[in-house]
Amino acid sequence: MTSLKQGEFVGSLDCGTTSTRFLVFDKYANIVAQHQIEYPQYYPEPGWHEQDPDELIESCEVCINEASKVLEAAGWSKDSVKAIGITNQRESAVAWSRKTGKPLCRLIVWDDARTKNTVAHFEVKLKTVGIEVKPGEFKKGDEGIDALRKLSGLPISTYFSAIKLRWMIEHHENVRKAHDEDDLLFGTVESWIVYRLTGGVEKNLHITDVTNASRTLLLNLNTLKWDDSLLKFFEIKPSVLPKIVSSSEVYGELANGALKGVKIAGIAGDQQAALIGNKCLKQGEAKCTYGTGAFLLFCTGDDIVLSKHGLLSTIAYQDGQNGKPVYALEGSIAVAGSAIKWLRDSMALVTSAAEVNTLAESVPDSGGVYFVTAFSGLLAPYWDPGAAGLIIGLTSYTTPAHIALATLEANAFQTRAILESMKLDSKSELKHLKVDGGMTNGDKVMKVLADIGGFTVIRPEMRESTALGSALLAGSAIRLHGWNISEPETLAEVNTKGNKEFTPTMPEPVREKRWAGWQHAVERSRGWEE
Ligand code: G3P
Repeated sequence: MTSLKQGEFVGSLDCGTTSTRFLVFDKYANIVAQHQIEYPQYYPEPGWHEQDPDELIESCEVCINEASKVLEAAGWSKDSVKAIGITNQRESAVAWSRKTGKPLCRLIVWDDARTKNTVAHFEVKLKTVGIEVKPGEFKKGDEGIDALRKLSGLPISTYFSAIKLRWMIEHHENVRKAHDEDDLLFGTVESWIVYRLTGGVEKNLHITDVTNASRTLLLNLNTLKWDDSLLKFFEIKPSVLPKIVSSSEVYGELANGALKGVKIAGIAGDQQAALIGNKCLKQGEAKCTYGTGAFLLFCTGDDIVLSKHGLLSTIAYQDGQNGKPVYALEGSIAVAGSAIKWLRDSMALVTSAAEVNTLAESVPDSGGVYFVTAFSGLLAPYWDPGAAGLIIGLTSYTTPAHIALATLEANAFQTRAILESMKLDSKSELKHLKVDGGMTNGDKVMKVLADIGGFTVIRPEMRESTALGSALLAGSAIRLHGWNISEPETLAEVNTKGNKEFTPTMPEPVREKRWAGWQHAVERSRGWEE
C-alpha cells in the first residue's frame, strides 16, 4: 500500500437549511475533498418548518467521515486536517436536556412562521409594560422598540431564536418542565453540533459564538454578553443559555469519527461566514448569498449602525476572546432559492432548478407579472408576518416562462429594497455587490439582478464562500499558513480565481417603472386575511 501524503488543510462543516456539507480546503482555498447530503425537512402544518436534531447530527458525522475517505482516496492522510470550522443555518432553535443530552422536541427552523402569536404577545408587552432598561426604568411603545433595537440590533420577529424558544416553552410540556427545573439547554444549530460532536453530556461543552448569539434577541451588541433586560423581557432563564465565545479560537475537539481529536477552532453563522469567505472584512464591503433565502451583509467595521429603515444590526465576527467585534448591517430575504424549489417540487413548472433560467431566458420580459414570494410573510425591509404570497398581473397571455422570470425578478426586487435601505442608513451607495450561493449558478439570475438592481454584480469562480469563511476562522485561530483574520493581507493568496461581472443593461425608465410595479404588488400582498 502506498503511503499517504501529509498536507496542511482545514475543514469546514457547513450545516445549512437543507443540507450538510464537509469541505476540506488547502492554503489557496482549493477544495481537496468534500461530501454533501440533504437531510429530511418536516412541514407538519402550513408555515411550520422543523428538523430532527439527531438526524442533523447524523448528517454531520456522515459528511465528515465520507469526506475523509475522499481525502484518503486522493492520496492525503486524514492527519492533514489541522482544524475544522463550523458554520450553520442561523436562528433555528434547539432544546435539549442537560441530564440526558437528548433533544426535547424537533428543532424549529429559522423561516418557520408559527410564532406569530408569540410575536404579537411581546409586541403588546413592549407597548403596555415596556422593557426594563435599568432597575425600575421601563421603556414603552416607540421608545421600547428603540431600546430593544439598541440592545439587540433586532426587531421582534418570528425570525429570531428567543421567540422560537418561548414558543417551545409554552407549547411543549417537557420543554416547559425542563425550563422550570433547570434541566433545559438551549442553543442555535452550531451550539447543538459542538455539544454533540465534542462528546455530548460527558463533556457538556455548551457554547455559542457571538455571530449566532447576535441573532437570538438576547445578546447585548455592545457588551457581547447575554443581556439581563432582554432575558427578563422574553422571560428566559440565563441558566439555559450557552457560554458566548468568539468566532475564532480553539473550543474543543471532535470526540469520535474519522477526524477524532481534530480541533474545532472557528464558528460563525453561515451568512457571516460568507462575508468572511468573500473577504469582506472591512467597513464598506458587502456580499449577498442566495441560498434557501438571501442575505445581504454590509460590513460596518467597529460601528454598530442602528437601522432606521428595516435592516438588522449584527455581529460580523470577533477574532479571539479579546478581539474587538466587527459589525454589519443585514437585510434578510426569507424566500430566494426556495421559490425556485417551489416551482420545481410543488408546482412542477420545471424539472430542474437550471431550467428556470432557460425558461426565463425565453421571454423578453415578465409580461406584467409580479410574484411576491411572501411564503411566510416578508422579512427585510418590510417585516410583515401577515404578508401573503401573491402572483399578480396574470392575463391569458401569461405562460410558465413569465412566471419563471417573475420569480427571478422577485429576488432582485427584494435585493434592491434592501440596498435602498442600506443607502439611507449608511449614507453611501454600493457600486457593486459580491454574490454567492446555489442560486447564483445561473447567468440569467445574475443578469436580472444587475438589471433590476441597477448595479454591477460580481460572482467569484469558487463560490463556496460560506464554508471557506469558517475554514478561514479556524485556520486563523491556529495561525495555519500565517492566516490572521484581523489582517486581511495575510489572506491575499486565498481564492484568487477569476470573477465574472454582470453590468446592468435595462434602460433606467424601464427599471424604475418595474420597481414602482413591485412596490405596488408588495402593498397588495400585505394584510391579507382569508
Ligand atoms: O438566517 C438564516 C440563514 O442563516 C439560512 O441560510 O443558506 O441555510 O439558507 P441558508
